[in-house]
Amino acid sequence: MSERTLAIIKPDAVKKNAIGDIIASYEKTGLKPVAIRMMQFSKSTAEGFYAVHKARPFFDSLCTFMSSGPVVVLVLQGDNAIKKNRELMGATDPAKAEPGTIRKAHGANIEFNAVHGSDSPETAKFEIAYFFPETDLVG
Ligand code: CMP
Repeated sequence: MSERTLAIIKPDAVKKNAIGDIIASYEKTGLKPVAIRMMQFSKSTAEGFYAVHKARPFFDSLCTFMSSGPVVVLVLQGDNAIKKNRELMGATDPAKAEPGTIRKAHGANIEFNAVHGSDSPETAKFEIAYFFPETDLVG
């Protein structure tokens, strides 16, 4: 079933010039970009996006990191896009990620982990709408 997921290429990956490599992996995996936006989050944009993690001890540090430099936000479309992207990203902690995954290649640790991807259809809906009006999606 064709579905959409939200991906973020995080500030650490943008800084190391990995945008092209990461977008190439999406395309090779059959995840087609239908919206792309480069931007820098304010702290409050990051806090709103990660509101579900508000009670976690790493929340403040995560939001500081996510607003520390430019990011690339994408909507990816394809069959089972949410699961496919999560497999392609690898485990949250790059040390536990499988070879061939984006986090294994580009992540440094559990916080500076190169990419984000929606974890469920409900989350994808919220996350896509957080950045893109429906009319911006071209797929
Ligand atoms: P992401 O997939 O963007 O979703 C939430 C983020 O919180 C996660 O990637 C990591 O960047 C970060 N995160 C998750 N667990 C931890 C942790 N234990 N310590 C620090 N950061 C974390």
